[in-house]
Amino acid sequence: MGKNLLRLKDLPLAGIEGILDQAQRFCDGEKCQEFAGKIVCNLFFEPSTRTLYSFQVAQQNLGLKVISFNPESSSLQKAESFYDTVKTFDSFGIDLLVIRHRRNEYYNEFISKLGTPVLNGGDGTGQHPTQSLVDMLTIRQEFGHLDGLSIAIIGDVAHSRVAHTNFEVMERFGMRVYTSGPPEYVEKGMNPIPFKQALTECDVIMALRIQRERHETNFSMSAEEYHRTYGLTAQNVTLMKKNAIIMHPAPVNRNVEIADELVESPRSRIFKQMQNGVFVRMAVIKYALGED
Ligand code: CP
Repeated sequence: MGKNLLRLKDLPLAGIEGILDQAQRFCDGEKCQEFAGKIVCNLFFEPSTRTLYSFQVAQQNLGLKVISFNPESSSLQKAESFYDTVKTFDSFGIDLLVIRHRRNEYYNEFISKLGTPVLNGGDGTGQHPTQSLVDMLTIRQEFGHLDGLSIAIIGDVAHSRVAHTNFEVMERFGMRVYTSGPPEYVEKGMNPIPFKQALTECDVIMALRIQRERHETNFSMSAEEYHRTYGLTAQNVTLMKKNAIIMHPAPVNRNVEIADELVESPRSRIFKQMQNGVFVRMAVIKYALGED
């Protein structure tokens, strides 16, 4: 039958820890062919590089058969609905669907009507559960634990499904989660703090991209002004604690939210996050297809 993973808030902490532990075992070299030959389809209705292709690598590592879906060449172009597209793949007898869509909680439209388990690859500005698992695995690898650590998520918080998911789940794990950035994009309930204080006090600084494609009104700041005001620069990262690290869910807009020279600097774990994406997604697939 399989299990969905739509939101981390649906899982108890022990369940999330179990996925992180499995991801770490995959990172350490464990192999798994238990699900070899099962069929998965990745239905991405929004652009993606990391989530889509790291899922594909994870699926191939596990021996799954992967079906590609391209919305541009599908019958969506003949006015078929999102619902009917998903129900069509469900009717094929596929073992697993991975879905990304621009609408928050898109899955509410069909989830009770599907027999195929669904992994959420991101819903609008709502949730990005596998990215948060990646982020927590990366932090755990760095510090050995999550509880007691502090993270500042900086940038377009309001439009970030990564920020929303991380805020909820990291607080549950005992982290202090703060946000900072342009006032119009920081939410009152998400512990806003001044940018300089965030840099000085937190163990993890997570920069976010400005998601212009989700804005209803134009963001007034130019890229240069944003970089001067909220961007991570070679100068202001000297304010960070000695062992503090830089993260970013990516895609990165170099020289906007983070200086080009910092993206691959010793403090940065940005490409480590991408590497962990494969292991986390292998663990999430094992969770979805495995026994309880
Ligand atoms: N972090 C992330 O979700 O990246 P993609 O949009 O490239 O999948």
